[in-house]
Amino acid sequence: MERKKVTIPDLQNKKREGKKITMLTAYDYPMARLVDDAGIDMVLVGDSLGMVVLGYESTVPVTMDEMIHHSKAVRRGTKYAFLVGDMPFMSYQVSKEEAVRNAGRFMKEAGCDAVKLEGADEVLDATIAIINAGIPVLGHIGLTPQTISKLGGFKIQGKTAKAAKNLIEQALKLERAGCFGIVLECVPDLVAKLITEKLSIPTISCGGGVYCDGQVLVTNDMVGLFDRFVPKFVKQYIKLSPLILDAFKKYKDDVERKVFPDKEHSFTIKEEELKKIKIK
Ligand code: KIV
Repeated sequence: MERKKVTIPDLQNKKREGKKITMLTAYDYPMARLVDDAGIDMVLVGDSLGMVVLGYESTVPVTMDEMIHHSKAVRRGTKYAFLVGDMPFMSYQVSKEEAVRNAGRFMKEAGCDAVKLEGADEVLDATIAIINAGIPVLGHIGLTPQTISKLGGFKIQGKTAKAAKNLIEQALKLERAGCFGIVLECVPDLVAKLITEKLSIPTISCGGGVYCDGQVLVTNDMVGLFDRFVPKFVKQYIKLSPLILDAFKKYKDDVERKVFPDKEHSFTIKEEELKKIKIK
């Protein structure tokens, strides 16, 4: 069957038909191509960029310019998947106008299909303004890494009845605001199930269990390219870091022992041409 670019109605149909939505992050062209070639439905240029690629301690320092730079590279490598740009901390909190302007940069400069914002109540006005400007928004509630100091650390959210009810209300507000989907991060699976059943828009789990309409993981976590810590909900399908480290060590050894480059990896000149070279 001919492959077509994924659209918001495709994602909504998947929820209706009980088919799971797949999503992974990407931060550069080669990884975006691999994710897209694997047939993943959605690519997120997450602000996790800050931690897994740029080496920051958290996602807080990530800037709009960094996000746009990486989103452009991901766009070039993504042909079919629905591409979401993650709005970094302080790009949508100051004013509705600034939020719309920054969301617009993801669409105009980076060619994204949608943006993602963390939070609900506090960012509802910004969310509505962005949607009214014609830019689709993916919500994100539960553990919201940009406000980690307010949450008191990387903790599971919605563990008490009161906190769970609050999460359900936040999800409903985002749905009413017009979000096309919501990421539920680090939420008990049965709370995520309640939210998923209540909403008509898809829920995407990031540590939210199996009952959500889809799943997202940080690619560098699931391929073992980021080993500062691996969250409990991440399944590592491969551990790339030790394989790459081994290759680098072999290369160093080959160069030092003068076995690389060998004839196979060198260019040659004919003997008679060589003889004609006169160096004064
Ligand atoms: O920044 C990111 O990669 C994210 C996902 C973890 C959902 O927000």
